[in-house]
Amino acid sequence: MRILSGIQPTGRFHWGNYFGAIRQYIDLQNGQDTAFYFIANLHALTTVREKSRLVQNTLDAAIDLLSLGLDPNRATLFVQSDVPEVSELCWILMTTTPMGLLERCHAYKDKKAKGLTADAGLFSYPVLMAADILLYDSELVPVGEDQIQHVEVCRDIAGSFNHSFGEVFVLPKAYVVKDTAKVPGLDGGKMSKSYGNAVDVFEEIKLQRKKIMGIVTDSRPMEEPKNPEGDHLFELYSLFASAEQTKLLAETYCRGGFGYGGVKKELLVLAESYFAEARLRREELSARPEKVREILAEGAARARKKASEVLQRVKQACGIVILPTL
Ligand code: ADP
Ligand code: TRP
Repeated sequence: MRILSGIQPTGRFHWGNYFGAIRQYIDLQNGQDTAFYFIANLHALTTVREKSRLVQNTLDAAIDLLSLGLDPNRATLFVQSDVPEVSELCWILMTTTPMGLLERCHAYKDKKAKGLTADAGLFSYPVLMAADILLYDSELVPVGEDQIQHVEVCRDIAGSFNHSFGEVFVLPKAYVVKDTAKVPGLDGGKMSKSYGNAVDVFEEIKLQRKKIMGIVTDSRPMEEPKNPEGDHLFELYSLFASAEQTKLLAETYCRGGFGYGGVKKELLVLAESYFAEARLRREELSARPEKVREILAEGAARARKKASEVLQRVKQACGIVILPTL
């Protein structure tokens, strides 16, 4: 099985990114499968318009992924723009992608609904994502819930190309872990860096404490039984807790007679210990950016090998080849 996913370097990773996507990258690298993971800097260009920030974010994303357990000996890690074949494939796919398909995609639709004007880059964002996936004959794409639509669009784009030119592309499937597909933020909505409700994986513990202790909980008297289902503090707690600890807390909720402050403190302790090793690895790696660049260069070389084979196949199929001598 060929696994692939990408993540944008638009800021530091939060708990939603980790449990919704990155943890699956790491689990999936450990089997017999081929796993490719990349930092989607070309996609990030649709929102980050500051050169130094994009460069720093890209390096930070690589350091974060490696610190969280992505192993360059088991998986291939690279930066999207280091495989320029992807932009060429993106154009080729664009020629058989119906406009209507892209008009229905949520990033563009949401922006338009707000009365904002979108760039052509944002509009065609799903085509570049399809190129990312199809360029490596990927079969399984680990993502959080919000990216399922894009993987479906990729299947449609591949299907539309195959319809015109023959069975060129493998159709991929999204890989979503249901329990963590939509991690709630501090306000109970989906955790996202754009909603100001996120807890970053590597931010200072002091700041994390402030955020968690500030979570608004329901104001009914302590004695009253509470429903753990749909309670975002409970959901966040269960991300870090063992099954046994989660079960105990669910019972406590149903019984009532507890304070949310205690739950928040426990959550902080669990989260701190959960990421303690990753924090140490991050400190070590941040001191060795040249090592990180080396890993990325090796990853890009491996990725390009596969990418150029697939691109050649695509070009042959649609007639983008040097004319044979008559
Ligand atoms: P953000 O919404 O903060 O901008 P991204 O869109 O960059 O996050 O998402 C990167 C990856 O993390 C994607 O695979 C996405 O599905 C996943 N992801 C993001 N937020 C969450 C969340 N709250 N719960 C689960 N997965 C998430
Ligand atoms: N669009 C994805 C996101 O915002 C990132 C991404 C780009 C991606 N290319 C991809 C994810 C290919 C999976 C496969 O999170």
